[in-house]
Amino acid sequence: MEKPTYKSYPVWDVPVRLFHWVNVACVISLIAMGTVILCAKKLGLDTDGKVLIKTVHVYVGYVFVINLAIRLVWGLVGNRFARWTSILPLGGGFVKKLKTYVAAQKAGKPQYYLGHNPKGVLAVIALFLVMMTMATTGLVLAGTDIYFPPFGAMIQEWVAAAGVNPADVVPYVKDNVDTEAFKEMRAFRKPFITLHYWTFFVVLGLIALHIGAVVYTEIKVGGGLVSAMFTGKKILPREPEDQ
Ligand code: HEM
Repeated sequence: MEKPTYKSYPVWDVPVRLFHWVNVACVISLIAMGTVILCAKKLGLDTDGKVLIKTVHVYVGYVFVINLAIRLVWGLVGNRFARWTSILPLGGGFVKKLKTYVAAQKAGKPQYYLGHNPKGVLAVIALFLVMMTMATTGLVLAGTDIYFPPFGAMIQEWVAAAGVNPADVVPYVKDNVDTEAFKEMRAFRKPFITLHYWTFFVVLGLIALHIGAVVYTEIKVGGGLVSAMFTGKKILPREPEDQ
């Protein structure tokens, strides 16, 4: 049997690791607060309680959006493994790589990757897509629900009744709004809340899949995926495919 010769490789740079753990903290708290928003009636929250939880959800949402935006840019300038060019299946041959990876794993001689393995690439793309969806729909909801930046001031102007200072339009108070304009604004926001709501369940599913796949890979293949997100280094028993 081939004797493993363990070697340590630097993979994840500091910005990627920081992004990952800040993102984990934000997503966990956004899920918790999102669940409270969903169950507001059952929990007996009054209007002030609802506005408060939505406000905190939006503040954490800003951290989530800024962190995500920095990571999107870092994908253009970061180290080799942080870059979109190595994460996205560009340049062809991806399906072949995926099939070879799955077949090698089935045959009990798993392939090792420094960056994401081909199955990981699919999971990471899905995770980025749903996070971008939550970020964009969330920003629109922040404006249309509690009149928060970046769109809040524009929405207040849209719905303010004639002669009312838009800054005086406050969430859940109908006195200062033009009924027709408010109805139009609610119709405009409908697809955003629908997408935010349904993508929330996709987020839950993908997180379960992501954690399950990492644990499975650690047990079946090894490679120290979890510790690599802390130390930045992967320790592999064989030469990686993407050295
Ligand atoms: C992974 C990220 C996120 C998750 C899991 C999440 C989850 C949720 C959930 C479950 C709800 C309740 C939906 C409903 O009432 O139908 C909600 C509402 C809301 N979210 Fe998020 N959210 C995320 C990101 C964001 C971001 C980035 C922002 C804005 C910066 C944001 C702003 C809002 C607002 C304003 C509401 C209230 C909408 C309303 O009731 O009309 N969310 N979120």
